[in-house]
Amino acid sequence: PKVHPLMSNASSIRCLITAGPTREFLDPVRFISNPSTGKMGFALAEAAVDAGWTVDLVSGPVAFEEPDGAILYPVVTAEEMYHQVDALFDACDILIMTAAVSDFRPKEQLSQKAKKEVADMTVEFERTIDILKTVTERKAHQTVVGFAAETHDVEAYARKKLESKRLDWIVANEVGQAGAGFAADTNEVLLIGADGSFRKIGPTTKSAIAIELIQVLGEARAIVSY
Ligand code: CTP
Ligand code: CA
Repeated sequence: PKVHPLMSNASSIRCLITAGPTREFLDPVRFISNPSTGKMGFALAEAAVDAGWTVDLVSGPVAFEEPDGAILYPVVTAEEMYHQVDALFDACDILIMTAAVSDFRPKEQLSQKAKKEVADMTVEFERTIDILKTVTERKAHQTVVGFAAETHDVEAYARKKLESKRLDWIVANEVGQAGAGFAADTNEVLLIGADGSFRKIGPTTKSAIAIELIQVLGEARAIVSY
C-alpha cells in the first residue's frame, strides 16, 4: 500500500485539477485544438488520490478513463471548462491547471457543416476566457498552480504568468521538442513559487513528476497552515 507522509491530515485537502485540450468548433464536424493528451493532469490526479486527497478532475476530450478515486467532469470547449472550474473552485484547497485551454475560438459556429464548394476560407477568431486568471481574482484560501507551455524563454515567460495570473506556483514546461511536453511520457519541468522557491524536476516520467509535485504542494500547505 502507498502511504504518503502527510496521510494523517491529507484527507482534508480537496484538489481541483484540469487536464487535456479543449475543442473549439467551426461547424458540427470541425474544430481547432492542440496536441495535449491529458497525461500530466491524469498523472497528477492519480498521485493526489494516492496522497489521500479528494480529487475533482475537469478534463477536455482525452483517451483516459476516470482515475480510481477521483471524480471526472468531462468538458469539451474552453467555455464549458470555465463553467465547471468556476462551479468547483470555491470548495477546493488547491487548483492545478494543467489543461491546454484553446486561447481562441471561431467567432461564429455554423450550425450546419460548411461545404467545400468555395476555393478558400477565412475564419475569424476571438479570445476565450482566461480561466485561471478569472477564478484567481476571487482566490481566498486556495493554493493556485498554473502550467506554462513555452517553446522558448521558458523561465522568463513562466515568471510573467506567475505574476500576471496571481499564482502561488507555476510549472514551466518546454513544449515542441521530442521527449518533453505534449503527449510525451517523460518531461522536465521547472517549479517556481511565488515565495521565491525554484526547483527543477526531471527529466523523468510524468508520473514521477506528478508524485513530486503533489508532495511539494502538500508540504507547502502543511507549513502554511501551522
Ligand atoms: N489558461 C487558462 N485559460 C486560458 C488559457 C490558459 O486557464 N484561456 C491556463 C492554462 O491552463 C495554464 C496557464 O493558464 O495553467 C498558462 O497557459 P499558457 O497557454 O502557457 O499561457 P497563456 O496565458 O494562455 O499565454 P500564451 O499562450 O500566450 O503563452
Ligand atoms: Ca495559451
